[in-house]
Amino acid sequence: MKAGTTIMYANEKLGERVTKYAEAQSLQLPKPIKDYHARIIEERSDSNYMISTFQSQALIFFARAIGAKRVLEIGVYVGYSAMIWSHAIGPQGKVTGLEYSEEYAKLAQEAWKKQGYENIDVHVGPAAETLPKLADVSEPYDIIFIDADKTGYTGYLSQILEMSAPGAKNRLLRPGGIIAADNTLRHGLVADSSSDNPWQSADFDKEGSVPAANVAAIREYNDLAAANDRLETFLVPLWDGLHLSRLLD
Ligand SMILES: C[S@@+](CC[C@H](N)C(=O)[O-])C[C@H]1O[C@@H](n2cnc3c(N)ncnc32)[C@H](O)[C@@H]1O
Repeated sequence: MKAGTTIMYANEKLGERVTKYAEAQSLQLPKPIKDYHARIIEERSDSNYMISTFQSQALIFFARAIGAKRVLEIGVYVGYSAMIWSHAIGPQGKVTGLEYSEEYAKLAQEAWKKQGYENIDVHVGPAAETLPKLADVSEPYDIIFIDADKTGYTGYLSQILEMSAPGAKNRLLRPGGIIAADNTLRHGLVADSSSDNPWQSADFDKEGSVPAANVAAIREYNDLAAANDRLETFLVPLWDGLHLSRLLD
């Protein structure tokens, strides 16, 4: 599967062509951001961590449609998607990133500086530990993007909901705010890990493939979000699955 391909069509070729057409008809990314994405793909073997440029177009549209000004991102890697959020909300907005790896965070900071994005901060460490440090945020976030370790998703959801209690003075996510969790279909394995799914293979549980533990963890996340009466959810079956949850209270 090509990184940016929409996988709703009869075959990969058609999916690619439809995606290319939809990309061309949609808002365009600034050239320096596109170039950064292309450079990371060229230079790094772990570049598949990044969201695709097509998904980026969708996220910008979506952030602007809800008038977002503050975005929290869990899982920053080398800073690409944080740049997308920063571009979407403009220089008056604020992007906060949580990233486990000091090396990735440093590369991200260098890239943001080079490209003139001054409204992005990153907190280094395991997100389960850095999230609670945001308990005294001056203003709640409009969007929280979860794109880190898959086995951590359910814990992040619980922490976010706990830190966003109705009526609390400093809540993390505003009422009506969105939690957007990435990779919530995992090549469709989350919905169907039988032999009907070509991604299911002998490698299913090996390095380089999608580990079965991640699939189970994502299933648990999807179930928890969908069953929570504080949330209204929509799982978008595009890219690797984007689970949107709107906080109702
Ligand atoms: C899929 S990549 C993020 C890609 C990025 N959002 C983008 O599209 O440009 C996942 C990131 O989560 C980070 N990560 C993994 N476990 C984490 C944890 N426990 N806390 C914080 N970050 C973590 C990884 O180091 C990696 O950089």
